[in-house]
Amino acid sequence: MEQFGELEAYGREVAGCTRCRLSQGRTQVVFGSGSPHADLMFVGEAPGFHEDKQGLPFVGQAGKLLEKLLAGIGLQRSDVYIANVLKCRPPGNRDPQPDEIEACESHLFRQIELIEPTVIATLGNFATKLLSGRPLGITRVHGQEQPTTLAGRRVLLYPLYHPAAALYTPAMLKVLESDFARIPSLIGSVMPEVAEPEPAPELTLVGPPAVPAEQLGLF
Ligand code: URA
Repeated sequence: MEQFGELEAYGREVAGCTRCRLSQGRTQVVFGSGSPHADLMFVGEAPGFHEDKQGLPFVGQAGKLLEKLLAGIGLQRSDVYIANVLKCRPPGNRDPQPDEIEACESHLFRQIELIEPTVIATLGNFATKLLSGRPLGITRVHGQEQPTTLAGRRVLLYPLYHPAAALYTPAMLKVLESDFARIPSLIGSVMPEVAEPEPAPELTLVGPPAVPAEQLGLF
């Protein structure tokens, strides 16, 4: 409950952000949506036209595909948390610029800190490069989980092709589907086992018996 309140409060704070030029052209900040304590978090690139209008991430065609992929592993949007590297729409959906990413990244890191996911699936190059801290492109690293420390916590980073790129490239969609299918086992691999009840301690006799041994007829 506490977590929910803090994330929501942070979202309200970010709604007025003017750290970069994108604040001038946006309809609204697209902070993120989903479960505030999700084990699985997705990080995309930036809001597009529909996201900017509705204030929610991944509500266009790419979002429909993301929902379908989630359904394929038995999840829905409300089970996960979805955010983007940039919280405001770049004009004409152009690529995020380095200074915009730099201005915005602490919002994403704060979200990660508050949500505490165990697996973060990065969608496409921008999220993958930012969160892995490496310049390797998505074609080289997709489907390869990488343990890393983000916002002071160990998480499993899992780079995936961006759904928007897979929409029109059937071969990429196949790869995305098979990478997606590994998500449940990745979550399982980092979730602590459900705690077993403590075994009852072995009974050991300490001290002398309350009744002298001879009275018990033992000797
Ligand atoms: N919609 C989003 O919210 N992010 C993307 O990266 C693409 C579409």
